[in-house]
Amino acid sequence: MRVGHAALTSFCQDVLVAVGLDERDAATVAGSLVAADLRGVATHGVLRLPVYVERMRRGLIATRPDIHVVHTGPGTATVDGGNGPGQVVALRAMREAVELAETAGVGLVSVHHSNHFGAAGWFALHAAERGMIGLALTHAEADVVPFGGRRAALGTNPLAVAVPRGDGSPILLDMATSGVAMGKVLLARKQGRPIPDDWAVDADGEPTTDPERVRAVRPLGGPKGYGLAFVVEVLAGLLSGSRSGTEVGRMYHDFDRPQGIGHLLGAIDPARFVPPEAFAGNVDRLAGQLKATPPAPGFDEVLLPGEPEERAEARHRRDGVPIPEELGRELAALGEAYGVRWPG
Ligand SMILES: NC(=O)c1ccc[n+]([C@@H]2O[C@H](COP(=O)([O-])OP(=O)(O)OC[C@H]3O[C@@H](n4cnc5c(N)ncnc54)[C@H](O)[C@@H]3O)[C@@H](O)[C@H]2O)c1
Repeated sequence: MRVGHAALTSFCQDVLVAVGLDERDAATVAGSLVAADLRGVATHGVLRLPVYVERMRRGLIATRPDIHVVHTGPGTATVDGGNGPGQVVALRAMREAVELAETAGVGLVSVHHSNHFGAAGWFALHAAERGMIGLALTHAEADVVPFGGRRAALGTNPLAVAVPRGDGSPILLDMATSGVAMGKVLLARKQGRPIPDDWAVDADGEPTTDPERVRAVRPLGGPKGYGLAFVVEVLAGLLSGSRSGTEVGRMYHDFDRPQGIGHLLGAIDPARFVPPEAFAGNVDRLAGQLKATPPAPGFDEVLLPGEPEERAEARHRRDGVPIPEELGRELAALGEAYGVRWPG
């Protein structure tokens, strides 16, 4: 099933308003989810709408959050997210980071008392579209085994860096520090298909290809991904004073408490380091060198970080966003419960 992105956005927005968000916050969450689907990052797209809505319905995510920003230095601030939707809180924090960077050159905003914020890259792009290098990090519930361990103890802890360029849209690295995002296991469950045996482990810490048996995923590339996940846990979790590791609330399991998620949003103004035209030109030149690298056997070309998603976006804007049948049924039922017609 394919659904046009505008109709999909309106659907999500209307459901979110029906569960209690105001129009603007509903547009933010809906915009982030559909942007992920457009970029082919289906793991962080509308697949997440039902659990967000369920947590809002139960009062586990505040639908009218009281968000507090405290400036703690020329380029730093903390944000108490008021247990609001992660996208609403993190976008507010990124706006703050960009404003700080406009005067201080660098803005770093540490966020606590927030929730799952979807795809990290969406926030990093917000800064890059304003000429800044954007950083977005979040910790997450413990879904990843530490290198050498049998049980999950760290989150899939993604990090995103968006780099503005002179010629064309920003270059975006947006990656989980696990081998795969847990959302890929969720998607395989929804699609009823097996997963590769090196993605995840079962309750005994043994590799499994059955997405239903998955209890944890593996860190990206062994000890290095584990180390990166640790660093993100420190920068997004500990630095914000949030609970960390196994103490983070589980989005799909803990329906008795909020998640208590922390993020770090950052903006760097390149003009404080090198002349801005020189920086933009140098990014373009580096990109050109990478693109000009002869492809290795089995490859057609070298892609820049974010390029696969940019191409997916062009296709999905034209042809509509692909929605697996089972997810379509789930969203239609959700819409019915809130009096919103499913456009699929
Ligand atoms: N909110 C959360 O708790 C949370 C947790 C984990 C992941 N996520 C999100 O999940 C999403 C997916 O993460 P992922 O790690 O599965 O992404 P991924 O593995 O699909 O891609 C990771 C990065 O590699 C780049 N890439 C992929 N193929 C490439 C190629 N051939 N050449 C050059 N670059 C290439 C992509 O552009 C991307 O920047 C991200 O948006 C991430 O922020 C969110």
